[in-house]
Amino acid sequence: MSKEAAKVIFLLLCVRISSVFVIKTFFSPDEYWQSLEVAHRITFGYGHLTWEWTKGIRSYFYPTLFAAIYKVLDLLKIDSRVFLILLPRIFQALIASYADYRFYVWCNRKKWSLFIIVTSWFWFYTGSRTFINSFEAALTTIALSFFPWNENSENTGFLWITALLTYIRPTSVLTWAPLCFYHVKKSKYPGWELLLKRYLFIGLFTGSVLAALDSYIHGSFIITPYEFFKVNVLDGIGSFYGTHPWYWYFSTGLPAILGIGIVPFFLSIFVAIQSWDESKSRQYILFSIILTIFGYSLLPHKEFRFLLQILPLCLYCITQFLSEWSRTKSTIVIWLVAVVILVSNVIPAGYLGFVHQQGTLNAMDKLASIASDYKTENGQPAKFLFLMPCHSTPYYSHIHQNVTMRFLTCEPNFKNQENYLDEADKFYEAPMVWIRRHLPVHPIDALPTHVIVFDTLVPKISDFLSIYKPLEIFFHADHLVSQRNGRNVMIYERTQVAKKKIESDIVKETPEVKQEDQIQDEL
Ligand SMILES: *[C@@H]1O[C@H](CO)[C@@H](O)[C@H](O)[C@H]1NC(C)=O
Repeated sequence: MSKEAAKVIFLLLCVRISSVFVIKTFFSPDEYWQSLEVAHRITFGYGHLTWEWTKGIRSYFYPTLFAAIYKVLDLLKIDSRVFLILLPRIFQALIASYADYRFYVWCNRKKWSLFIIVTSWFWFYTGSRTFINSFEAALTTIALSFFPWNENSENTGFLWITALLTYIRPTSVLTWAPLCFYHVKKSKYPGWELLLKRYLFIGLFTGSVLAALDSYIHGSFIITPYEFFKVNVLDGIGSFYGTHPWYWYFSTGLPAILGIGIVPFFLSIFVAIQSWDESKSRQYILFSIILTIFGYSLLPHKEFRFLLQILPLCLYCITQFLSEWSRTKSTIVIWLVAVVILVSNVIPAGYLGFVHQQGTLNAMDKLASIASDYKTENGQPAKFLFLMPCHSTPYYSHIHQNVTMRFLTCEPNFKNQENYLDEADKFYEAPMVWIRRHLPVHPIDALPTHVIVFDTLVPKISDFLSIYKPLEIFFHADHLVSQRNGRNVMIYERTQVAKKKIESDIVKETPEVKQEDQIQDEL
């Protein structure tokens, strides 16, 4: 390795590893529920599997990587929760650093490429999170760097990564189809030979290994991308999770994740169209970006992080544009632009990574210590109830003790019921009614010892909380993303007087409540 490469890798490692410690907020449930939680279950035997796993629509490949880390920690008897939380993120950060290095190589080691990849706020914010999307973005970058862009190159190594990606994230097809088409077209080998000897062989080999892994862990034969297709396309289950307008990725998604980078990105498209015939590879990169965004736009369920898949392609376009542009500009102008890019990325990364939505993570430290120390007066262990939107916090992966926990679920409408409401919806419609129907008041030990809520819910369930006392409060966010969220996360603990109180409450339960119950029962 050259001295230059070593320096670059060191810089990238510093940036990504530091992001593990700087980014201390909650972004989206899948960071925990679709990776660490599953891994925890594989290694330690307990952990919640969401419907995606019971239905088998996700490949175990990604969680298995973390399960392996957990297994090593377990064997060495150093499976503390600090390691369980940190090491998967450091592992992801290492993959991201390597991807960044490959991005630099792909961009012909241009300085702008380092600057752009290091300052991208969204990549800094998500690159070291245990999202399958972050993993996908990193692998996509690595594959792109091995793609035979060069006229004379016939390297097909990238296909191994592409095959893995399309298996574990079937939507990767959108990004890779145009590029693979280009690959087959530009190669000097006949198309059928490439397709048969490379594409088919690598696809079948990778598919068989992954199908074997998935079937082994799932417990029966399963091809997860096929199940994924069935559920999302044939049954349209994805539409359950919020429906944004079709143009959301153009109007909101892309500008948000690129930040100020959207300006050079659009200029690069403009340049590409102006000099369309000059570069074939540039054409196909654009096709790939556009097909992915359009494909995702057709799906009702939209999220910022889905765009991670094409982030490396967009950053590549930005790098290309800025390198061209800066050739004819004075140093001062270049520095000015660089400072503007840097500052406008630091602000969202800092605020979202350090401030916004931190309470639900911080509360987990407290819950873990309660889980190990707390006993009721009858010597019973702690029992947690999360009265929050589903998956608002991490779960067993951040507690690492087999305590009883319960949260409001949000399973999609599998049975095609009309006016379907999930459990969390039903709860928020009438919180006290839900509590009276679902929480047995007798015996007292059947009630949770601790309840975790957002502050906005407290007045609505004050009746129930009268037998609890606030134990700790965690600042969460200044700006609420939904009405069901709150500025603070609160942990309530059952009081010693609860027992007496409940007994007297049973006696004087109000007729009004009984009525509500009956109405509910009839429904
Ligand atoms: C965890 O606790 C549940 C309920 O008490 C029990 O059924 C399960 O076997 C436990 N799992 C492990 C791995 O200890």
